[in-house]
Amino acid sequence: MLVHTIKEVREKVKEWKTQGLTIGLVPTMGALHAGHKSLIDKSVEKCDKTVVSVFVNPIQFCPGEDLDKYPRTLDEDERLCNEAGVDLIFAPSPNEMYGQGHILSNDFLTYVIPPYFYVDKLCGKSRVGHFDGVCTVVNKLFNIVQPDFGFFGEKDRQQLIILKKMVKDLNIPIQIIPCPIVREESGLALSSRNKYLSEEDKKEALALSKILFNIKACYQKGITDCNALYETAFSYLNNHHSLEYLEFRDAENLEEKTIADNNTIVFIALKIGNVRLIDNISLGDL
Ligand code: PAF
Repeated sequence: MLVHTIKEVREKVKEWKTQGLTIGLVPTMGALHAGHKSLIDKSVEKCDKTVVSVFVNPIQFCPGEDLDKYPRTLDEDERLCNEAGVDLIFAPSPNEMYGQGHILSNDFLTYVIPPYFYVDKLCGKSRVGHFDGVCTVVNKLFNIVQPDFGFFGEKDRQQLIILKKMVKDLNIPIQIIPCPIVREESGLALSSRNKYLSEEDKKEALALSKILFNIKACYQKGITDCNALYETAFSYLNNHHSLEYLEFRDAENLEEKTIADNNTIVFIALKIGNVRLIDNISLGDL
């Protein structure tokens, strides 16, 4: 069932809550792919009812980013959700979410601002304000849907860590369920933004996963010095790539690591042409 208003969601949620059913929320910006499907499958398996939100959230895009050209494929998204057993798809308009004639500046809108230490690094460094927009919209979705569980992909690991922190700091009674990255056979992590890549770009994009897999292999062979691990990346880079960051950080609090351990996440962002791609790997997972 596809709905566009908060009122319709609230009515459904009320009905489910009176029946004592558990609710899972999978927040998305649409253009659903197998990565989203894995989150949906997890929710359908774990919860009595699953809600998928499809909303290209304007306040998490920075000036000059791809808000207007971000892929919007609601018909296909609806089909995928129905086949996967989703109970409710919530696809609001920006007016529905932020009010008619909304002004999206923080002079006029209440924002949820994550701690500076979590956002002054990695993607937050070049996407100033991005995580304010993410935390604000996810908080709104949590209030609208009132789920028991929220499902988020490890592909956006900094986002996941920040949202876990938000839930803890604001005592939000929702459990965040992290879901593993889904990769193409080639190693490329699935992302809605892969739609922007040409076949040639897609080959170039393999540098991200190759760098991460190689770092993990080196770590497993006993190299723990992060500088030494960092150096291994350069043999995979060429003049098609522009490395934005390659960093070793703690899985819970994003502190920088100099010596890698099983609690270390390696984060990478690489630009191929105009497309900025991110990926990460946990050195602790087998
Ligand atoms: O990860 C995303 O797709 C978005 O950041 C989210 C969590 C749906 C919020 O708009």
